[in-house]
Amino acid sequence: MEKLEIQGSLSNSTLLIGESFHNYKLYLPNKQVIVLMDDKVRGLYGKYFEDYPIIEIGQTEKNKTLSTIENIMGQLLDLNADRSTFLLAVGGGIICDIGGFAASIYLRGIEFGFISTTLLSQVDASVGGKNGVNFKGFKNMVGVFNQPSFVLCDQEMLKTLSTEDLNCGFAEIVKHTLISDAEMFEKLENNIEKALNIETDFIEALVANSVRIKAGIVNKDEKEKGERRKLNLGHTYGHAVEKVLGVAHGNAVSIGLAISAKLSLNRGTITANDYQRVVNLLKALNLPIMVTEKHEEILEALLMDKKREGNEIHFVLMHGIGDVSLELISIEELKKIEL
Ligand code: GLY
Repeated sequence: MEKLEIQGSLSNSTLLIGESFHNYKLYLPNKQVIVLMDDKVRGLYGKYFEDYPIIEIGQTEKNKTLSTIENIMGQLLDLNADRSTFLLAVGGGIICDIGGFAASIYLRGIEFGFISTTLLSQVDASVGGKNGVNFKGFKNMVGVFNQPSFVLCDQEMLKTLSTEDLNCGFAEIVKHTLISDAEMFEKLENNIEKALNIETDFIEALVANSVRIKAGIVNKDEKEKGERRKLNLGHTYGHAVEKVLGVAHGNAVSIGLAISAKLSLNRGTITANDYQRVVNLLKALNLPIMVTEKHEEILEALLMDKKREGNEIHFVLMHGIGDVSLELISIEELKKIEL
């Protein structure tokens, strides 16, 4: 097991990678605990949490709304939750985002923790302290920065995931290696089978590596004033793809990574060989790379992006493998891209 720390401005977060979820009670404070989970996770793991009242919500992106938050508030109230209550969210990124936000605003904030059940949430969504919901068609528009007391990531829980859910996590893992770990990028290139077969030791190393990279960046810039924006690699175009095509987050991020690699190639900040390595790795992990359909519509959605500055958009570009920088890209440059 590897233990990492994030020092948040409000509180610290302990990240437990490779810890068995059966040990979760060791990390709970000695006070009232309420569990939040979705129907699917409850079906799989509900019996291990029967000592506590369970609030159940839906698990899709459609549930990431203020009305779900209102519903949770109502149930917390009915369960007599007070300032000393601890909310334990068990699930993937959506449940963690919703749970962290609900806990952060109920009675102006109660303590909370996560048991992260998907690869995507273990390597990205449950780590970092951003919690929130979508609003009026914009992703994560309303929320807070607030660290969970702990995040428990048990790789055994990944064995029940569908291929699509696993792929979503791999996209974020590739993103982290592209930001700052050329060595792990190469290790992944050389161990595709181990990754796809979810070999426990290899996956644990991948998750720990991703969390280490993300925690390192968040520790320098929790509120995303500068350095943390690097974590948006693949997400600017990716969010627009997600909005227009309605594909899963990880697939959209993969397409965003390929676009960012192409823009970097066009600007000469990566070589043709490195561009090909990025594309080959994404493909080997069964991730999509380019969408030719609806590129115009995707660009229109991009223009609505929060990161837009006039006719230019903040994009994270690659400098070889393992280094990135934040750049402004014009819509014209994006239009010219050959898919
Ligand atoms: N909770 C996800 C993040 O902070 O990036």
